[in-house]
Amino acid sequence: MEYTTLGDTGMTVSRICLGCMSFGTSDWREWVLDEEAGTELIERALDLGINFFDTANMYSRGESERILGDALAGRKDEQVIATKGYFQMDDSDPNSGGLSRKAIEQQLDASRERLGVDTIDLYQIHRWDDETPIETTMRALDDAVRREKVRYIGASSMWTHQLAKSRHTSDRHGLEQFMTMQNHYNLLYREEEREMLPYCENQGLAVIPWSPLARGYLTRPHEESETTARGQADSHARDHPYFDGGGREINERVQQIAEDEGATMAQIGLSWLLEKDWVTAPIVGTTSIEHLEEAVEALDITLSGSDMEFLEEPYEPLPVSGHS
Ligand SMILES: NC(=O)c1ccc[n+]([C@@H]2O[C@H](COP(=O)([O-])OP(=O)(O)OC[C@H]3O[C@@H](n4cnc5c(N)ncnc54)[C@H](OP(=O)(O)O)[C@@H]3O)[C@@H](O)[C@H]2O)c1
Repeated sequence: MEYTTLGDTGMTVSRICLGCMSFGTSDWREWVLDEEAGTELIERALDLGINFFDTANMYSRGESERILGDALAGRKDEQVIATKGYFQMDDSDPNSGGLSRKAIEQQLDASRERLGVDTIDLYQIHRWDDETPIETTMRALDDAVRREKVRYIGASSMWTHQLAKSRHTSDRHGLEQFMTMQNHYNLLYREEEREMLPYCENQGLAVIPWSPLARGYLTRPHEESETTARGQADSHARDHPYFDGGGREINERVQQIAEDEGATMAQIGLSWLLEKDWVTAPIVGTTSIEHLEEAVEALDITLSGSDMEFLEEPYEPLPVSGHS
């Protein structure tokens, strides 16, 4: 395993972060693994040297956090556990979502309990909350750090001006800053290269991209995109513009480079991201031990400058996707 530093937090993390959206219950989303299979995958991740895990309170409505916490029992101090809050957890309780002080305090405590930890290493806001002034949110997050419920705070998909505003607010009031950005970034969706990624680089934020394999579209030929359980059932994959612009051509070029390198398409998709200096660790989502092993092996692949250009060339600007 390769390790790197998570931006200015100083924490050392594996260059592959295991995304835990795929663990919980198929009642939430059809392709999600149950506890036994999820635990087996987490165990294998530990064997492979992965020490960085990303989950969220909303994944399987808390089950993902609980499974992760149980699977890491007795070994949590050596892991970097990241979770997120924002989305409404209880349909009948509007205060169970958003970033008000009440929502943050209650949701954070619920996450700590499910994960079985006193202190969460990285607590991220899953989205921006238009209804709560950012100063209120930053003060509540700062208090969480002071009370040792959270070590570091991070943000997820938002506009760059919002992240800049949050950092300016923290600066002005001497509050904790967001140290990480979890954003939508992969070979088929590169809009973040305009503003967000240069901003993160300039400010020293770690970047941990979500859906690094375009929810599976970068892992198999276009014609086979709906052949897996998740490919058939994941309506969110179709919400993103992966098939538009140069998407299909990129998919074909990934196949071509994979053949030349004797690698899988998934490995080429990941190694493209790993070659990007502003990427700290992609958050890989998988329900297969073999695919997890492939992701780790992708660390050994080096793409040449001309391979990178060949893969990138067909890309056309796309509508913003992943937040609004
Ligand atoms: N912050 C946010 O808003 C946000 C949004 C989405 C996701 N996330 C985070 O990001 C993580 C990853 O997201 P994701 O699951 O959408 O990511 P992804 O890695 O882009 O896509 C996962 C899909 O790729 C397939 N795949 C992975 N490796 C493969 C391989 N070697 N060969 C063939 N297929 C392969 C998986 O199939 P198999 O299951 O068969 O391997 C699965 O269908 C989540 O777990 C979550 O932690 C965050």
